[in-house]
Amino acid sequence: MQNFANSLISWFEGQKRDLPWRKKRSSYHVWISEIILQQTKVAQGNSYFKRFIELFPDIKTLAKAQEREVLKAWEGLGYYSRARNLHASAKQIMDKYDGIFPTSYKDIISLKGVGPYTAGAILSFSQNLPYPAIDGNTIRVISRIFEIDTPSHIKETTKQMECIIKELYKYGSPREVNEAIIELGALICSPKNPQCKLCPISDTCIAYNKNIIDKLPVVKKKTPPKTRELNFLIIDGPDNTTYIEERSGKDIWKGLYTPMMIEENNMDRLTKQAGLIIEGVKKIHKFDYIEHKLTHQTLKITIWRGSTEIKSSHLIPKEEIKEFPTAKPFIELFKKSMN
Ligand code: ADE
Repeated sequence: MQNFANSLISWFEGQKRDLPWRKKRSSYHVWISEIILQQTKVAQGNSYFKRFIELFPDIKTLAKAQEREVLKAWEGLGYYSRARNLHASAKQIMDKYDGIFPTSYKDIISLKGVGPYTAGAILSFSQNLPYPAIDGNTIRVISRIFEIDTPSHIKETTKQMECIIKELYKYGSPREVNEAIIELGALICSPKNPQCKLCPISDTCIAYNKNIIDKLPVVKKKTPPKTRELNFLIIDGPDNTTYIEERSGKDIWKGLYTPMMIEENNMDRLTKQAGLIIEGVKKIHKFDYIEHKLTHQTLKITIWRGSTEIKSSHLIPKEEIKEFPTAKPFIELFKKSMN
C-alpha cells in the first residue's frame, strides 16, 4: 500500500493538470466544478466553469440570480436539472446556513443534487478531510489495481473501495489521494486503451499483471435509449419577430425556451394547433431534421417553419432569442432561422 500511494502521489505532483478549479479550493468552487464535470469532460468544463464563476462568483450571487440566468450559463451542457439544483441549493445555503457553505457531511449531502461523490469531493478537496470521492475514474482505477470484480454499482463494491482509499490516507493527504486517483483515471487508466506503459503503478496493478484490464470494472449493462419523435414549429412574425415558449412540466428541458412544440405532423392539424396560439400562421413547410442523443433517449426532431403577418404579444424580436436559455439542438437552429 505504501509504495502504491507514494508512486501515485509523486506521479500526481509531477503530471497534474493546471485546471481553473484547482487554483482556489473553496467549497463553492469545488462544488460548482464537480457538478459541471459530472456533465462534461475537462476540456469543455474549463470554459463553463470560468464563465459560471464570473457570472456567479459566490453563493449569494447565485442564490439571487434568476433561474433563467443560471440555465443560460448552463446552456449546451445538458441535464438542466443539475443547474436548477445548484440554484436551489444556493438558496438553501442562504436560508439555512446564513450563506456559509456547510462543513459537515450530513449537511452537505442534504443539498439538492449532491450525492456521496460530490460531498466527498467537496470535503476532501476543499477541507482535506478523509472522505473518499468515488466517481467513474476512481471505480476504474481501484477495480483494476485491486482486481475488484463485483459489479461497480452495488453497495458492497463501494464499501470495499472506500476501505482501500481510507487505507491510502495513511500515506498521503485525502486531497491528494482522491484527486490523484481521479487524475490517473482521466489521463492514463482510460476505459479503452489505457496507457499502462506510462502508468506509475502498473507494477502493483493486478489487472495489468493478469492481462485482464479490459474485463474491469464490471459495470451494469445500460438499457438502450428509447427513441422519441418530436416536432417543433418556428414561426416568423412581422418585423423580424418569432415565437418561443418555455418548456414546463416533468418532461425534458424544463425551464428552457424552444420553438412551439407540436404534437402533430399532419400539415392541416399542425396549422390548426399553431393557430390556437398564434393567429394567421401559414406557409408551413419542413425546415430541418435533427437527431439528438440524451442519456436515456434518442430524439428525432423534425423542425417545421411557417409565418404570420399578424402582430401579436407572443412574438419577440429575433435578436432577443439569445438572451433565453435553450437546449443544444436549438442553439444552431435559432442562428439558422435568423433570416
Ligand atoms: N473529473 C471529476 N473531477 C475532477 C477533478 N477534480 N479534476 C479532474 N478531473 C475530474
